[in-house]
Amino acid sequence: MPLLQVKDLTVRFDTAGGTVHAVSGVTYDLEPGETLGVVGESGSGKSVHVLAMLGLIPKPPGRIAGGQVLFEGRDLLTLPERELRDLRGKKIGMIFQDPMTSLNPVLTVEAQVAEAITSHGLMSRSAARARAVELLDLVGIPEPRKRVKQFPHQFSGGMRQRAMIAIGVACEPKLLIADEATTALDVTVQAQILDLMKDLKRKLSMAMIWITHDMGVVAGLADTVQVMYGGRIMERGPARAVFNDTRSAYTWGLLRSLPDHSEGRVYETHTPGQARKRPRLRQIAGAPPDMTDPPPGDPFAPRNPFAISGCFQEMPPLVQARDAAPGHLVAAWYDLPKALAARPDLAGKGEGA
Ligand SMILES: Nc1ncnc2c1ncn2[C@@H]1O[C@H](COP(=O)(O)OP(=O)(O)O)[C@@H](O)[C@H]1O
Ligand SMILES: [Mg+2]
Repeated sequence: MPLLQVKDLTVRFDTAGGTVHAVSGVTYDLEPGETLGVVGESGSGKSVHVLAMLGLIPKPPGRIAGGQVLFEGRDLLTLPERELRDLRGKKIGMIFQDPMTSLNPVLTVEAQVAEAITSHGLMSRSAARARAVELLDLVGIPEPRKRVKQFPHQFSGGMRQRAMIAIGVACEPKLLIADEATTALDVTVQAQILDLMKDLKRKLSMAMIWITHDMGVVAGLADTVQVMYGGRIMERGPARAVFNDTRSAYTWGLLRSLPDHSEGRVYETHTPGQARKRPRLRQIAGAPPDMTDPPPGDPFAPRNPFAISGCFQEMPPLVQARDAAPGHLVAAWYDLPKALAARPDLAGKGEGA
């Protein structure tokens, strides 16, 4: 049985300017131990879709307009708040961006890691303090016995992020959700954290949802890649398939905006552990959509050089892509491989990068 089953999750924000269609009909399964990379530009609905599952969107203006989120068979969307609170941090660990604001500046690292454990009644205070040292060691913080007594400001950015990871995995969750967890770090430290995560997911055999706007980050980490835009899943499948047999024009645009991308190389070159340079990026032309009362159709259509008239009329369903790997899904009325073959001017690589 899947660990997590997201079924038709739909989230709206009712604002003075109209209804924001933040997440629309998001559906997927996550298996135990699977790492899912969720990718998309800012405003795609990546954060809101996980915050909604965890009962963490502000209501109002937010509301769950439909769907189910089954975690080990229980619907998180109808779970009493008390049970949801116990699940968060225990069976579902979380790591967010900006550990400086997430860590409490007036408490030692030890107090904060221990608190993550004792708040769920899993251990005594003294046992939790001993465990805190083990956890700092696990996440690669040197001299953990000494470091555990320090305050967050005595840690570097990378070390603070490691401490946040220690808190996220303190209760050995079944699922770890990381939202832009390495975005604030420089590329070298980011690569180290990604290496750590690969190591941890093996040691702790936990499933992960790794959210990032950076395609390069998920390449070496994720088993499955899910590309979101306008609150919808545009493409989803085994990482290799999504990178090397891309079917959504949006994914294709994201991949082209990666530095030194050429066909088939992204997957090999952008692995964690290799710091990479960030030369000038080739952006996708046009701006991300305003999701307030959006027009019908595929939200990416106005920016899509391969859009056909149907794209402006109706959102295509997310279905198995033709002649693609099993489980490689795409939401597109156009056929990207054919469209690219017909437009060698656009398919050309290297220009602008
Ligand atoms: N509290 C809120 N009130 C109104 N709109 C919101 C709120 N939080 C998020 N949104 C909107 O929901 C959409 C999805 O946001 P988000 O999930 O944060 O995007 P991402 O994480 O992909 O950058 C955006 O259009 C955003 O403006
Ligand atoms: Mg976000």
